[in-house]
Amino acid sequence: MKNKVNATTIKKANEVLRRSVNFTPLQHDLYLSKKYKANVYLKREDLQKVRSFKLRGAYFAMHETPKKQLENGVVCASAGNHAQGVAYTAHEMKVDAYIYMPTTTPKQKVDQVRFFGGNYANIILEGDTFDASAAAAKKFAKANAMKFIDPFDDPNVINGQGTVALETIDELERVGVSADYVFVPVGGGGLIAGVSTYFKAEMPDAKIVAVEPKGAASMAAAFAQGGPVELDEIDKFVDGAAVKKVGKLTYELARENVDSVMNVDEGQISSTIIELYTKNAIVVEPAGALSVAALEDVKAEIKGKTVVCVISGGNNDITRMTDIEERSLIFQGVKHYFLINFPQRPGALREFLNDVLGEDDDITRFEYLKKLNRSRGAALIGVQLKNPKDLKPLLKKLNKFDPTFINLQDNELLYSMLS
Ligand SMILES: Cc1ncc(COP(=O)(O)O)c(C=O)c1O
Repeated sequence: MKNKVNATTIKKANEVLRRSVNFTPLQHDLYLSKKYKANVYLKREDLQKVRSFKLRGAYFAMHETPKKQLENGVVCASAGNHAQGVAYTAHEMKVDAYIYMPTTTPKQKVDQVRFFGGNYANIILEGDTFDASAAAAKKFAKANAMKFIDPFDDPNVINGQGTVALETIDELERVGVSADYVFVPVGGGGLIAGVSTYFKAEMPDAKIVAVEPKGAASMAAAFAQGGPVELDEIDKFVDGAAVKKVGKLTYELARENVDSVMNVDEGQISSTIIELYTKNAIVVEPAGALSVAALEDVKAEIKGKTVVCVISGGNNDITRMTDIEERSLIFQGVKHYFLINFPQRPGALREFLNDVLGEDDDITRFEYLKKLNRSRGAALIGVQLKNPKDLKPLLKKLNKFDPTFINLQDNELLYSMLS
């Protein structure tokens, strides 16, 4: 593998890519630097042409495919961003692309693929997950003798993604600093494989941290098992990084070059998306927020250090913001849901408001249907607190009002039925 992916092959990829992809900024971030008492730099791949680093690998892999083979067209499968990279390149190289995406792909990403690929993009929405979509795409490529452009497990794709590290180091050297830590998001592992390989060769003292969403920690599983394994279930919230099984090559390279693997709660990721937007006017998608979200869990370790976070993508579908905000509030411990048995008599609701709710507690949801011939009826109540500390007194008063009340956070099944 070393002869296919190394600092030299990544430099070669850069010679090709620098003509077609943006050299994205490495920005010193004042807000995060103050917050973590560290020197935090953001590698802004959200400012890449297709608003994610994925263009790099797709472009280089297609560029390296023999012209004759390209004539049949290419096939890819992607949760969205790789598809945009392939679509953009197909349009530029005038090659037909058959692009498979899971049926759950946000509309914004589907529209962007159409926009970038124009008449060269043929979009096929198939499968509930990336893996199901990929299986269908590979079958189609084989049946039609077309080149399958892998989203991560391919040396040329990895070399392309590795140019993120090359640009980062160029820029760090220009300003005369070296990185102590580099935080990199992980889905199938193409980005971390390329970035870690290049850093270990050119700035070996930097610690490379792979960051996954808690609900799709497939690289951690591979590290634990000594090779890629398929996770039974994944949370698709971080759609760019929701991959059940990392690649074989990406695993091997990560195993060799990555210093640690960590995972971040989806609620923390949501809070980070909102924070990056409100404090820094940076729009990130969930996978793009992973590297910054990780800092919260390693505060003590990074104090006084120089840290690089790769902001991998900014294709956020605005219609997802309600869900993102909800997850963030729940994670911060200020949003709660309860099922409460209400006495079916006049004045019961007023009593609840007076006796149970604290001064700053705000009702965000109330669902209740009066039933005939019953003395009590269940109500679903959502409450937003000003401070997580307000929960304790609320639970105490709720217990007095209805000792049988259910806190939905304690019941995963009921809780999942809320949205
Ligand atoms: C924005 C974003 N970040 C991170 C990743 C993960 O990249 P990789 O699959 O190379 O690990 C993806 C993959 O699609 C992505 O779109």
